[in-house]
Amino acid sequence: MGQPQAQSDGTEAGKPPLRVGMVGYAFMGAAHSQGWRTAGRVFDLPLNPVQAVICGRDATAVRAAADRHGWASTETDWRTLVERDDVDLVDICTPGDSHAEIALAALAAGKHVLCEKPLANTVEEATSMVRAAEEAHQRGQVAMVGFNYRRVPATALARRMVAEGRLGALRHVRVTYLQDWLVDPQFPLTWRLRKEQAGSGSLGDLGAHIIDLAQYLVGERLAGVSALTETFVRERPLPTGATSGLSAVSSAGTGQVTVDDAALFTARFPSGALASFEATRYATGRKNALRIELNGERGSLAFDLERLNELSFHDGTEPGAEAGFRRILVTEPDHPYLDAWWPPGHGLGYEHTFVHQARDLVHAIAEGRRPEPSFADGLQVQRVLAAVEESAEKNSVYTPIAV
Ligand SMILES: NC(=O)c1ccc[n+]([C@@H]2O[C@H](COP(=O)([O-])OP(=O)(O)OC[C@H]3O[C@@H](n4cnc5c(N)ncnc54)[C@H](O)[C@@H]3O)[C@@H](O)[C@H]2O)c1
Repeated sequence: MGQPQAQSDGTEAGKPPLRVGMVGYAFMGAAHSQGWRTAGRVFDLPLNPVQAVICGRDATAVRAAADRHGWASTETDWRTLVERDDVDLVDICTPGDSHAEIALAALAAGKHVLCEKPLANTVEEATSMVRAAEEAHQRGQVAMVGFNYRRVPATALARRMVAEGRLGALRHVRVTYLQDWLVDPQFPLTWRLRKEQAGSGSLGDLGAHIIDLAQYLVGERLAGVSALTETFVRERPLPTGATSGLSAVSSAGTGQVTVDDAALFTARFPSGALASFEATRYATGRKNALRIELNGERGSLAFDLERLNELSFHDGTEPGAEAGFRRILVTEPDHPYLDAWWPPGHGLGYEHTFVHQARDLVHAIAEGRRPEPSFADGLQVQRVLAAVEESAEKNSVYTPIAV
């Protein structure tokens, strides 16, 4: 047999297809499209991802999105999409209030599922999704939640170094996720500021990411939290028409903000490490500043998403006179994901995390194993979010995470 032949759409013939149906076509829709379009062209995958169908409620807008992002067909009702025979995987890129309903229907229809974070808007919804995913797994289906920051090569390298014991016992985990797009009180009341659609504010949007990333890097789940939350601007102009991503236009009327604007919490890991978390959309000047630092008895690691090709490492076992933080440029072929990309020094960006996410999910499907992060991992993050809200409501009382 010769090499698989490239087809006109750039994918490879001779491999079984994985036909993707995606719901939502704005910010994450564009990012996931990038992932599906590119993964099979860069990595040697066991299945051939096919962008079969994209769904949105506005027929004209979804047609334009399909043309722009490379989808073969469109639907205007996600219920039709999940029932289509030519869809193997449903990719959910909608706000949190629709995650559970779409995921449950897709799993019942025999599809694999990729669902954006946070997994759901409540612990109850997330629990039902885990139950459905477990039953579906018995039938050979897989379900993954989209915590894409695990797929930055530098964070994956950090995980490897922690697991190898390079830091020794961990003492501190310090995490912040800072943005500033809500500083203007005239920014309109989009779905991210409404509890019934988003579940929570900065907490579920940014906090969910850093909870997952911290637990992934440490290799443990948080035991309990003490939290503060605040809503700085409680009333905002209503948006006009469709809103997309993090931008929108406002109209005359106003409405109530029903989510947190910022969440701060301290936490304990079972092994004894102490952690601090800060998630806000009011950090003037900070655009997408996800920063994490781990301090262990043998060394420290630090990562900044705004410099995502780099990892800072201090090896505490080196002689004091020479020791210090050094920058690892995470672009070498033996760094995670990098063997398929560019020569050393030719860095990657945000979008590549979605390519890596698609790659890892395709492997899990082909191998019939539970992908990471699984729906169960998403549920556990949801429990941490719930504990943070409970603690904040009770004057920061230490609140154990339910198991
Ligand atoms: N992984 C990340 O880094 C990351 C970043 C941003 C957002 N997210 C998550 O992705 C999800 C979507 O966020 P976004 O920023 O793309 O939002 P967005 O507002 O940019 O896009 C939402 C999309 O969902 C569509 N939609 C909403 N309800 C629908 C329905 N019932 N049927 C069909 N389509 C529907 C909208 O038309 C729009 O296309 C959220 O869960 C969010 O938390 C993840």
